Amino acid sequence: MSPDTLAVSIFSWHGHRVLSRGDMYKKNLIGKILIDDPVFLAPIMGVTDLPFRRMVKRYGAGLVFSEMIASRQTIEKCHSAIKAREDYAEEFPMAVQLAGCEPDVMAEAARINVDHGAALIDINFGCPIKRVVHKLCGSALMKDECLAARIMEATVKAAKVPVTVKMRLGWDEAHRNAPAMAKIAEECGIGMVTVHARTRNQRFNGTADWEAVRAVRDSVKIPVIVNGDILTPQDAKRAMEISGADGVMIGRGAYGRPWLLRQVMDYLRSGAVTAAPEMDEISRIVREHYDSILRHYGEYQGVAIARKHLCWYLGNLPGSCAVYTEIKTMQDPEAVKEKLAGYFASGKTGF
Ligand SMILES: Cc1cc2nc3c(=O)[nH]c(=O)nc-3n(C[C@H](O)[C@H](O)[C@H](O)COP(=O)(O)O)c2cc1C
Repeated sequence: MSPDTLAVSIFSWHGHRVLSRGDMYKKNLIGKILIDDPVFLAPIMGVTDLPFRRMVKRYGAGLVFSEMIASRQTIEKCHSAIKAREDYAEEFPMAVQLAGCEPDVMAEAARINVDHGAALIDINFGCPIKRVVHKLCGSALMKDECLAARIMEATVKAAKVPVTVKMRLGWDEAHRNAPAMAKIAEECGIGMVTVHARTRNQRFNGTADWEAVRAVRDSVKIPVIVNGDILTPQDAKRAMEISGADGVMIGRGAYGRPWLLRQVMDYLRSGAVTAAPEMDEISRIVREHYDSILRHYGEYQGVAIARKHLCWYLGNLPGSCAVYTEIKTMQDPEAVKEKLAGYFASGKTGF
């Protein structure tokens, strides 16, 4: 299916259209990108790589976001900083998230990623880590609305696909400017705003303030997505009710549960919580995800990268402590797979 032929629909959790197809085209909110359900996988550095995104997509997600990519690195070493065109095409529609503070560099990086098959470009105004904010990127841009606006304008102009923004509530308690930033974003032609409902200074501490997202929702007409601490289908519904947001973005809740977004979509549509996969399906998922990581990164790097995913999968399963303790120091992928197969066949799982 070519991007040009895709229809657009965004549904709210109670089944009503938040934005009709006509509205979407008229307002040019997210272009012609098909969003069946407003349940999105968050960009998470070191986690939402291609193998994980594919596992999540298999069950279903409105949209998946790449890990943050540095815009300058993209234009300087474009071959290593971005994945092959085929990768993005297979995941269509997917959003590539860019970080940077130079409008022309962000614009060029957006162009390169679109050429490589990105269906949307997302701009990072939320990253709290020191080495990013010291370069005036990520959440530091919430303190400089003028520069943020120039970045958004340049990226929108260059991208030729919808551009979205992910931000926090503000820099700190005294500067919660997300509603103003969202308004600026809308004026710059941004198609959707996602808000991680914490300030930069909170990093990941405390709890996400879903209520505060309501002011952002009220300040703009473009879709607003609420993010932070959504771990269950019921959380998703509550976050949308409390914030008035048009959809949810889920990050850490999907660790070891790539099917969670499917469960959220089902719950928002029907009010019923669908069961997690049976143990034999989980066993297949773990095996496939593992193989996919090895293929993507090569065996040496892959074995190390896969460990955290195995920890998350097994952490959700009974009787898995001993097997994880053994696996976490193993270097040979075949031995790891054998251990996993033994665990899933042993009946220790309680299934
Ligand atoms: C390890 C880690 C890496 C992250 N990397 C990114 C990133 O690259 N880009 C981004 O916008 N947010 C990033 N985030 C923030 C998440 O996208 C999300 O906003 C945050 O985790 C809150 O949502 P959650 O509670 O559903 O995980 C990261 C979060 C974590 C924990």
